[in-house]
Amino acid sequence: MGTGRTTLEVGADGVAVITIVNPPVNSLSIDVLYSLNDNYEQALRRNDVKAIVVTGAGGKFSGGFDISSFSAILGEKVGQPSAGFISIDIITNTWEGARKPSVAAIDGLALGGGLEVAMACHARVSTSSAQLGLPELQLGVIPGFGGTQRLPRLVGLTKALEMILMSRPIKGEEAHSLGLVDAIVSSDQLVKTAKLWALDIVEFRKPWVKSLFKTDKLEPLGEAREILNFARAQAKKQAANLQHPLVCIDVIEEGVISGPLAGLQKEANSFQTVVASETCKSLVHVFFAQRSTSKVPGITNLGLKPREITKVAILGGGLMGSGIATALVLSNFPVILKEVNADFLRAGINRIRANLQSRVKKGKMTEENFEKSLSLVKGALDYESFTDVDLVIEAVIEDVSLKQQVFADLEKYCPSHCILASNTSTIDLNLIGKSTNSMDRIVGAHFFSPAHIMPLLEIVRTHKTSPQVVLDLLDIGTKIHKTPIVVGNCTGFAVNRMFFPYTQSALLFVDHGLDPYKIDRACTKFGMPMGPFRMVDLVGFGVAVAIGVQYLQSFPDRCYKSMLMPLMLKDKRSGEASGKGFYKYDERRKISPDPEIKKYIEKSRSAAGVTPDPELMKLSDKDIIEMVFLPVVNEACRVLDEGVVVKASDLDIGSIMGMGFPPYRGGIIFWADSLGAAYIHKRLDEWTKKYGDFFKPCSCLAQLAASGGQLSTAAGQVKARL
Ligand code: NAI
Repeated sequence: MGTGRTTLEVGADGVAVITIVNPPVNSLSIDVLYSLNDNYEQALRRNDVKAIVVTGAGGKFSGGFDISSFSAILGEKVGQPSAGFISIDIITNTWEGARKPSVAAIDGLALGGGLEVAMACHARVSTSSAQLGLPELQLGVIPGFGGTQRLPRLVGLTKALEMILMSRPIKGEEAHSLGLVDAIVSSDQLVKTAKLWALDIVEFRKPWVKSLFKTDKLEPLGEAREILNFARAQAKKQAANLQHPLVCIDVIEEGVISGPLAGLQKEANSFQTVVASETCKSLVHVFFAQRSTSKVPGITNLGLKPREITKVAILGGGLMGSGIATALVLSNFPVILKEVNADFLRAGINRIRANLQSRVKKGKMTEENFEKSLSLVKGALDYESFTDVDLVIEAVIEDVSLKQQVFADLEKYCPSHCILASNTSTIDLNLIGKSTNSMDRIVGAHFFSPAHIMPLLEIVRTHKTSPQVVLDLLDIGTKIHKTPIVVGNCTGFAVNRMFFPYTQSALLFVDHGLDPYKIDRACTKFGMPMGPFRMVDLVGFGVAVAIGVQYLQSFPDRCYKSMLMPLMLKDKRSGEASGKGFYKYDERRKISPDPEIKKYIEKSRSAAGVTPDPELMKLSDKDIIEMVFLPVVNEACRVLDEGVVVKASDLDIGSIMGMGFPPYRGGIIFWADSLGAAYIHKRLDEWTKKYGDFFKPCSCLAQLAASGGQLSTAAGQVKARL
């Protein structure tokens, strides 16, 4: 409680300046809203105030409604809005109708509730770099304080829908050209200009605009209906499982057809519904879970400061090394890329060039920045230039003896403070560093492919890795815009390990009679970017089979030995790269199911000695989803129980950012808790009896099922073994 406030200052010119003060982003907490309301009312009452300017302290207008208040509100009874809702409602609706004009002075951010407050003012002045937007849909809600009605009236329906549905903020310059902002000024002239503007409104030298009742930007009704229907179709196509974008479009439509007051009413009612939805709860959970990944007990609470990393070297310019280098140069880190010979080096640098060029093509990067980023890469064929590097990330091929040799070399050539990181996806770090005396600075930096795009970074620590090294990598991870999770050293680490049973279970059920394409379809309908069979096609059967061998060695009690992929591999059918895997791929990489795979399935079945189970043909999508994901949950429980992660929500983030688990389901653990440990245990138990030990519930899950406990708190009950 007691977070944030506003200040009121009345000048000799008769303009009251109300400043939102709630660092770091001046979010609108309940306290801020009350204070804003009080100061606004005071300004209206005072005879020495002619006009009002609202702004934010520290160069930021407001980052929007305070989501921690939001989660408190979620706990309240729906239909009885909290004080926060009443305040903002009064603010946005009474400001506009007040007899004193108000002007918003916008710098930094005006997002969500922040922009809604600004739009309720009679004019807005902004800096060119300010960001203005309504990103509420990202949290499973809709703009709730008049944004659905005012934004279309200020910028037109097409642009407003784009900004709201894509949660895409725009810069001050664009906002000015669209009419969302009335003037662009520099930061130092901002409040002064806003004050003059407000006084001009008082003197009728500038228009007194009530954005809620503007109509000039709205498209004619027939055209508006077409735009709204198109937006509906797009929203359904992009996220078939999400309701709130459609609710938002309905609310906007109500305002366009029946007028802004009817629109506001519908907005208020709909907000109450969406804020209580599972989608909103899940997305708010993900919001907080993501922010908490960088808080690691035993690392970030020791009072250590991250060291400055100014020069990074990468070993191996293959798929991963070039992706990692791309991520680093995009954040202005100079990189040395070392390869085995000049041809491989050229190929590696060309990969980086292609990664950057694709950003230019997509409009995410200017030509000038492209050149600047590429110039940060220096090639090397030996360790001569490694004498002053602060961090090395090794991404050579997955071979134990090669990696051991490489780490012995690194110990010899790099300075003693240098962090020695490996991007290995499977090899034990203790083995990699076996012949060195540097285990305290050896750490895993496990990127996901493609490394410059995938947002997750697993930081793998052994029991000897120093907290300082982990802290440094957490810092680097954040600087290159990754979400880092700190995990323990075991086969597959946290994310790949917990998702290994995803494909295994799918293979087992195909042997027992389930159609692989039906499994893939159920998974994509559930919200996964691809099903397990499309995924192994992408990874390639060679790699997938090799990974299977590793898991079999580490977890022989719970691996399913399907012959399906090895049989296909024998016929040089090895996934997308070979043009054929579980699917057929044409020259344009268009995929289609392949009837030929039936013969491999039959062979695999007979090798496994099973006959198809007719019951499996009748399964619903829900059953299929449980069959492939409950074994994942079971492994996640083991990961928690062994202390591989320090908190369960890290697995939620790992599942979403590493594997594409739908964020609106909150992540694997959040989703599992919605089913309940007892239910999951019961289902796994049934399948164990029918299909074998692959499904056997682990002791942690059994305990949670018996005690009625939640997986989300399970990590708190165990001691990290790190
Ligand atoms: P890759 O085969 O595409 O690239 C490896 C590169 O390392 C080759 O260009 C090779 O010439 C180079 N290399 C070999 N010995 C070297 C040395 N002594 N010095 C410098 N360069 C050397 O392999 P990829 O896929 O990039 O994998 C690299 C590492 O990343 C492996 O440990 C792999 O397990 C891991 N990884 C791979 C992922 C993937 O999806 N491919 C995902 C996450 C981790």
